[in-house]
Amino acid sequence: MSRTVRLLVLILLLCAPWTPALAQSEAVVEEMIGPDAVRFFASATAKERARPSLCLVEQPEALGSPPPSWTLRPEFARIQGRPSVTLMVPEGTDLYGTGEVPGPLRRNGTRTVAWNTDAYAWGAGSLSLYQSHPWVLGVRPDGTSFGVIADTPQRCLIDLRQGIRFEASGPEFPVIIMEGPDPQSVVRTLARLTGTMPLPPRWALGYHQCRYSYTPDDRVREIAREFRDRDIPCDVIWFDIDYMDGFRCFTVNTWDFPDMRGLIGELDDQGFQTVAIIDPGIKVDPGYHVYDTGQAIDAWVRTAAGRPYVGDVWPGDCVFPDFTRQDVRAWWGGLYAQFLDLGFDGVWNDMNEPAVFNTDAKTMPLDNVHRADADLGGLDTHARYHNVYGMLMARGTWEGCLKARPRRRPFVLTRANHLGGQRWAATWTGDNVATWQHLDMSISGVLNLGLSGQPLAGPDIGGFAGAGDGRMFARWMGVGALLPFSRGHTGKGNVDKEPWAFGPEVEATCRLALQRRYRLLPYLYTLMREASETGLPLVRPLFFADPADPRLRDQDDAFLLGDDLLVACRTKPDGPFPDVFPAGNWVRIGLVDGDLDDPDLPALYLREGAVLPLGPVVEFSGERDLTEVELLVNPDDRGTAEGVLYLDEGDGFGYRTGEFGLLRYRAVLGAGGLEIEARMKEGAWSGIVPEVIPVMAEESMTR
Ligand code: GLC
Repeated sequence: MSRTVRLLVLILLLCAPWTPALAQSEAVVEEMIGPDAVRFFASATAKERARPSLCLVEQPEALGSPPPSWTLRPEFARIQGRPSVTLMVPEGTDLYGTGEVPGPLRRNGTRTVAWNTDAYAWGAGSLSLYQSHPWVLGVRPDGTSFGVIADTPQRCLIDLRQGIRFEASGPEFPVIIMEGPDPQSVVRTLARLTGTMPLPPRWALGYHQCRYSYTPDDRVREIAREFRDRDIPCDVIWFDIDYMDGFRCFTVNTWDFPDMRGLIGELDDQGFQTVAIIDPGIKVDPGYHVYDTGQAIDAWVRTAAGRPYVGDVWPGDCVFPDFTRQDVRAWWGGLYAQFLDLGFDGVWNDMNEPAVFNTDAKTMPLDNVHRADADLGGLDTHARYHNVYGMLMARGTWEGCLKARPRRRPFVLTRANHLGGQRWAATWTGDNVATWQHLDMSISGVLNLGLSGQPLAGPDIGGFAGAGDGRMFARWMGVGALLPFSRGHTGKGNVDKEPWAFGPEVEATCRLALQRRYRLLPYLYTLMREASETGLPLVRPLFFADPADPRLRDQDDAFLLGDDLLVACRTKPDGPFPDVFPAGNWVRIGLVDGDLDDPDLPALYLREGAVLPLGPVVEFSGERDLTEVELLVNPDDRGTAEGVLYLDEGDGFGYRTGEFGLLRYRAVLGAGGLEIEARMKEGAWSGIVPEVIPVMAEESMTR
């Protein structure tokens, strides 16, 4: 080869990654992976080189070519060497999902970077929060819908300024596109591919009280007593990092908590469950059992030079378990046996982006090395595994809890997660701020998480950073009490944020807010069961009621709880209640004495044709058996209404072998008044079937 030719070849080679045509030189591979889902690879070579998917329940089988009617096709390209995929969408299409994101429900015009980030005091403009969901849901003007997964765990830009464009670091990635007649069908297809959340224990749907941190033990006792003395319902008290001995995970600081087992026992006697925080950073400390046993199996993520990576977190120098290895997850899971034996009921995995204090990127170096199992893609850098680190930690925790207590349903809360991670943990929206804007973003945030596969989510009610004021707190409790995961929490050194902390007026609103939640528990639990079966979230956007109604597409101050209850929230101090409703006769309802008269509480409306099952106001979910349910009925114009109620033991796995009941209620308003027919639709429930007390919805307004 002459010098000139060699030079030419070199120039061509250097330019290659920038040439869009290169990826196009081979035909795109299209394969059905389910009835309504097609996977696309840039080329046959890209398919051959593709790494295992880290978000799908299983590596899908190719089921042939898409039907001729299939229209949605991505365009693959390379932008400055990075693989990129574009999907043009019809005019008037609204976009949603993209996981845990700040800002409005409707995502058109936004950019999100799927990159798990310790985002303390995040704001409306933050591009990355704690979780990554490279996923977009589209709703066309006629209500028909589609969804797109960029099947890569790598850092990924989701650009929704013109159609949909994903641009990721790392190698080429496939995209999965699904079609459906409405957004609900697409969300169900997403759940079929990426999994659903197994049913959590019923108490997880109660109210949770947390702060950084309740310490010492007497402060915990005092909090518990206040709830019961003040008749404010609460199921769970949380232990933040100060319960540990020098922030060593799986240890207890016996100075402040000399008898943790005894304390948990006392709380248990009063009907409180307990959840303890466990972080991934393990203190480098020979003699500390977690460090020593981890060392023994060489459990830690390594630097590029092959040494255990050491980063600074709460305890100082820490090593980080490599959760991409099954043996490490098994060791980690095993640590819970002894720990849970103290009596804790659930686990909170935090800081698992993973957060590292002493680096510019706030996480570990991207060239760190994970010795991942082959089924995840084998040995590779942190750049590949960063976004799934938290999810795999939660998985190890979930599996460990189940192994430690095989008859109890694990409850795990995680801060970092990835698309599909709902299989192992619920979540909250991290370190938010005590402002009205954050109160507002709690709703859109939870809605988009729900549309991205995560049904059990909520904000730190009252705000983690900053004080806020009583009015805002009351309003936030009103909203937070109706979101799936309902927990008050706040940061160290901050003002108190228990329901009574802002004086008697705010306390009265908080009491009503939480009493409402407990009245709704049978309904919430029924919805949770539906979510675990189908993937439909508990909290749903208004447009689920009528996907073709353009007025509903950007409403995020109101939401649906299930299909039957509409929650209208005032998220500005003096702002009005939202007044856009789906068609039909939605009837305003009250659930407890006084809630209709409290302007700080969201307004509730019952759908026409719905039967809403309500339980009694209790102090905690397990206080007594559900012996009767009030059925709030809003008959349609034919005088009929329907609803369902799910019953089981509230914990354990009996429901998997038939020990549950799904009751269907049919109400008919006739000359003789309201008649209810109850039929066991599914299950072989041998427990109590509650008596029914029918009430017309209009009448609830005078309660
Ligand atoms: C992180 C968490 C926060 C927790 C704190 C201390 O900031 O997001 O919820 O209270 O760490 O553990």
